[in-house]
Amino acid sequence: MASSIVLFGPPGAGKGTQAGNIVNLTGKPQISTGDMLRAALTAGTSLGMEAKVYMDAGQLVPDDVIIGLIKERLTQQDAVDGVLFDGFPRTIPQAEALSEIAELSIVIAIEVPDNRIVERICGRYTCGGCDAVFHDTFNPTATEGVCDLCGSTQMKRRADDNEATVLTRLAAYHAQTAPLADWYRQRDLFISVNGDQDIEKVGAEISAVL
Ligand code: AP5
Ligand code: MG
Ligand code: ZN
Repeated sequence: MASSIVLFGPPGAGKGTQAGNIVNLTGKPQISTGDMLRAALTAGTSLGMEAKVYMDAGQLVPDDVIIGLIKERLTQQDAVDGVLFDGFPRTIPQAEALSEIAELSIVIAIEVPDNRIVERICGRYTCGGCDAVFHDTFNPTATEGVCDLCGSTQMKRRADDNEATVLTRLAAYHAQTAPLADWYRQRDLFISVNGDQDIEKVGAEISAVL
């Protein structure tokens, strides 16, 4: 498999928001473990039911579940030229497992201070038709309730996008995921971009890196 890219950062950093641009630039498909888990839940699979308990609590889903999901996803034909991982890996064991199954070219970290995260997460909504990400204040749809990209009026909010759960997700990020930054720095794969600026400016920094 050709080399893949990792989008790294705390909850609400803008990983999902920036992924579309990177997919357009590189042609690599986005693999978001969060989106896959939510799709499994919507489909009512046992995996989805198991994951829901952790997601609703703001905790990480166990590594073996996530690694199994990724291994299966990487067998699909569209992954042969490398992929864009969004929200994976999130623990050292996940990064170790990934190093055995895929080659990475770069880990792009979107840096956003903790005090910006709650307002980002609590104002987020997504399009049920195409999964585009919006925000009540920072990135609203041009016409209220209508997706700019696909015209759907099925806007959704995530069950885990409330202040209490966000704080738990942020704590899980600092305890379990942030240590990966040094792990990847030691491997010369880590690049930071400033995520605390307009969506377009973050996108321009990422494009420059790529
Ligand atoms: P996941 O779905 O990955 O959630 P997350 O990591 O918490 O990240 P988010 O999707 O909340 O944020 P984002 O960075 O994508 O931000 P977005 O672009 O939407 O994971 C959910 C759960 O699944 C986890 O808690 C865990 O339980 C489980 N899970 C998933 N992967 C796992 C793994 N590998 N291992 C174990 N468990 C796993 O932007 C947020 C908002 O901000 C939007 O409204 C957007 O419009 C706005 N915004 C974006 N950029 C800007 C900007 N520059 N300025 C202003 N507003 C902005
Ligand atoms: Mg996301
Ligand atoms: Zn849409």
